Amino acid sequence: MAGSAAKSHLLILFYALAVAAAVAVAQTANVTSDEEYWAKRTEEAAARNRAAYVSDPIAAMNEFNKDVRRATTRRSLARYRGPCMATNPIDRCWRCRADWARDRKRLAKCAMGFGHKTAGGADGKIYVVTDASDDEMIIPKKGTLRYGVIQDRPLWIVFARDMVIRLRQELIVNRNKTIDGRGAQVHIVGAQVTVQGVEHVIIHGVHVHHAARHSGGMIRDSKRHYGLRTASDGDGISVMASSNVWVDHVSMYNCSDGLVDVVNGSTAITVSNSHFTKHDHVMLFGASNSNPQDKIMQITVAFNHFGKGLVQRMPRCRFGFFHVVNNDYTHWMMYAIGGNMNPTIISQGNRFTAPDDVHAKEVTKREYTSYGDSKEWVWKSQGDLLLNGAFFNESGGQNERKYDRFDMIPAKHGKFAGQLTKFAGALNCRVGKPC
Ligand SMILES: *[C@@H]1O[C@H](CO)[C@@H](O)[C@H](O)[C@H]1NC(C)=O
Ligand SMILES: *[C@@H]1O[C@H](CO)[C@@H](O)[C@H](O)[C@H]1NC(C)=O
Ligand SMILES: *[C@@H]1O[C@H](CO)[C@@H](O)[C@H](O)[C@H]1NC(C)=O
Ligand SMILES: *[C@@H]1O[C@H](CO)[C@@H](O)[C@H](O)[C@H]1NC(C)=O
Ligand SMILES: *[C@@H]1O[C@H](CO)[C@@H](O)[C@H](O)[C@H]1NC(C)=O
Repeated sequence: MAGSAAKSHLLILFYALAVAAAVAVAQTANVTSDEEYWAKRTEEAAARNRAAYVSDPIAAMNEFNKDVRRATTRRSLARYRGPCMATNPIDRCWRCRADWARDRKRLAKCAMGFGHKTAGGADGKIYVVTDASDDEMIIPKKGTLRYGVIQDRPLWIVFARDMVIRLRQELIVNRNKTIDGRGAQVHIVGAQVTVQGVEHVIIHGVHVHHAARHSGGMIRDSKRHYGLRTASDGDGISVMASSNVWVDHVSMYNCSDGLVDVVNGSTAITVSNSHFTKHDHVMLFGASNSNPQDKIMQITVAFNHFGKGLVQRMPRCRFGFFHVVNNDYTHWMMYAIGGNMNPTIISQGNRFTAPDDVHAKEVTKREYTSYGDSKEWVWKSQGDLLLNGAFFNESGGQNERKYDRFDMIPAKHGKFAGQLTKFAGALNCRVGKPC
């Protein structure tokens, strides 16, 4: 009796150990295979990202400034009087057309700046999100946002009605997708939107907030693959190893990490017409001093309103090339634009209104670097309007000459920034009417 009880206990123990070992092996195997999977995808994406990099970023800036000037002459402003007012050339391209909802894909032709080639899902069908739930990470339900974004084929994703989508885990967006919130008030909350190792993603006209950290788990990232994801930080939108990404007319606030973070050698990106509020670390472009691959980053930040409750990093930059143009900075508590690791920051035609705090008047902040090292970084301010004691501490040393006003088409001056950003954030568009 006693002997057989002991035996069966041993047997149970043996089984328990065997099961535990099997689970451990399965888990380790899955972790390993998923790491390999993402490493491979990152490597493949790196070649496409290199192809998206432009060798003459000054020409790209000039093109941008030329387009803004052309679209904002007194005569062209006069042409656009009426119930709809589009005050910058991105909006001019689509907003005041009564048929915008029948011709949604026109938006893909409206991008400007380094992300101007972003096609989103323009080559695909329209997919309508009818179901706000997000219960299934491995086999997402048809009709949900997650089902749409993981498809391998291009899709232009729209929403059937107003909805709050509470993500249970990070939302991993596959290539060639547009998330187009026009015509509905769409809130994406609860976890981050991840754009990783892909190209041609447009995120437009939605509210992104209260993204929280998640410890990870099994999540589908494409039609053919799901796997074990490690923790996600709770950024609003996290762009990793990707190119041709355009974020436009998004309202973002209060996420647990950054609002928009761009890392791992991503490039050809534009963040425009967006409204940022209630957040400390707003935008991080390049997350680590030990990722020199971020030298490839070329990002345009334009027509955004950096508003109430913001503290710092609008953006904070490492390594790359950043055109920060025609934005309206009405609130910051520490500084507006900062960085380290020799980023090139060309600030043009922005309006910077400093806070009353006498210690926070400086727009710029050089992080963890002695003057001797940072004086060569090209940080230029051209045509910015500096108010309430705001000052932009320029640097550039010998490299500076390359970026002299002389070679450049000046941006629309910062005194127009209020007008250019007047409609920043998610719009309230009605089908059948100019927006
Ligand atoms: C590991 O992946 C296999 C299939 O690839 C799956 O059956 C198994 O449940 C996974 N293990 C864990 C711990 O998720
Ligand atoms: C994604 O869009 C780009 C630009 O339109 C296109 O060249 C590419 O073939 C598309 N990719 C897929 C998978 O459809
Ligand atoms: C942001 O959200 C968190 C958690 O939901 C909340 O506790 C906090 O008060 C919010 N902060 C702001 C500035 O709204
Ligand atoms: C991506 O960037 C993060 C943050 O800098 C870093 O920890 C990670 O190692 C990078 N991954 C790759 C594949 O470079
Ligand atoms: C500008 O930055 C340099 C280097 O950090 C610093 O030495 C100098 O005092 C700054 N100028 C002002 C006006 O703050």
